[in-house]
Amino acid sequence: MNATEDLPETTLQALLAAARAARGRAYAPYSRFAVGAAVLDEQGRVHAGCNVENAAYPQGWCAETSALAAMVGAGGRAARAVVVVGEADEPVTPCGGCRQRLREFARDDCPVICADATRLRARHTLGGLLPASFGPSHLGVERAGSAEPAAPAAPAAPGTPDTPGAHDTTSTADRAQTPAEAARRALACLDLTSLNDADTEADIDRLCARAVGPHGAVAAVCVWPRLAAHARRLLPPQVAVAAVANFPHGGSDIAAAVADTRAIVEAGAQEVDVVLPWRDLDAAPALLAAVRRACPGLRLKVILETGELADPATVRRACRIALEAGADFLKTSTGKVRVNATPEAARLLLQAIAADPAARHRVGFKPAGGIRTVADATRYMALVTESLGAEAVNPQRFRIGASGLLDDILAVLGGGGAVAGRGGY
Ligand code: THU
Repeated sequence: MNATEDLPETTLQALLAAARAARGRAYAPYSRFAVGAAVLDEQGRVHAGCNVENAAYPQGWCAETSALAAMVGAGGRAARAVVVVGEADEPVTPCGGCRQRLREFARDDCPVICADATRLRARHTLGGLLPASFGPSHLGVERAGSAEPAAPAAPAAPGTPDTPGAHDTTSTADRAQTPAEAARRALACLDLTSLNDADTEADIDRLCARAVGPHGAVAAVCVWPRLAAHARRLLPPQVAVAAVANFPHGGSDIAAAVADTRAIVEAGAQEVDVVLPWRDLDAAPALLAAVRRACPGLRLKVILETGELADPATVRRACRIALEAGADFLKTSTGKVRVNATPEAARLLLQAIAADPAARHRVGFKPAGGIRTVADATRYMALVTESLGAEAVNPQRFRIGASGLLDDILAVLGGGGAVAGRGGY
């Protein structure tokens, strides 16, 4: 989100609605000045909060602080847009303290939009409201506010050694993890997928019912664009909805790929898995650029269809194109061709990410197709650890696209009520 006008109208309306609803719940018996705020996080999710006053006046806090706390509590690490709603003669802007709190998680170009119950009142950027600010970089920390979001640690799972460096004593993740730990981590990084041609809402009902269980939630559910809004309605906010564009054919029709992408944005999804036009790599930069522009704020995974690319040099070229287009993830395969994710392809993608200084600490990796067991998943986690470090094995940087893998995860963890998956993804 580089400028205020880049904020899609639907996203702005979602932020306004959330901030206004939160304002309605403000606890402001002393000032009687109700404020609501909403922030858009790096996953495209909206988090809202209100001011909360206290009889010991200095102990109260502002709406923006509540909204940021909600974002951080939900795993968000970067504020990409902020809306503040209050009623006053002048537009209600964040107080100085809140500007500094926002600064921790937002860049200078983050839009800060002031509104009241019915109108937009002012548009600022955080840098405009807080110039020459003090931030994490002064302490030598590269955090969400100064650049791209820092990857948080994988969600803590009972019994999982999630402290930084927990896996550093060995060279591979599989030697450091017990099968149960690997299963929990694979669950947290799973894009639970259903992309059968005949999928119906009933299929997505069954899929989403499995997205959260006794051992935690998957990272995302991955579906067709036509079923993305249905999935979004069913899932709790911490589970992202991903949908596919230009899929599975990987054609070169920019308008069609953009139409898919717009449908995904309109559906309220957080992630776009787009197939690179792999038969015509010369057409790829323009198609990816158009798709990237059509889904600002959403996580973009570029599917390279590595099993169809002629040789390692072509895979490397495809990686460069995807990275230059602003991919957030490199993904191996659609799962719809004969050769899907392989360790050889994984290495090429991971090496491309590791070799690019702008991608090394930001871009993630998603193997997909044919990953059915925790042992399979563990091999890919080990490859990520080798190339990008153990800290990259978390849902911000690593996903596994699979449908049947959940059965094996639940079989390893036990008591999960595994249900036989369908489809051969
Ligand atoms: N307040 C906010 O919540 N956000 C702002 O941006 C400005 C002020 C709250 C704090 C206090 O509860 C009330 O408004 C009056 O200052």
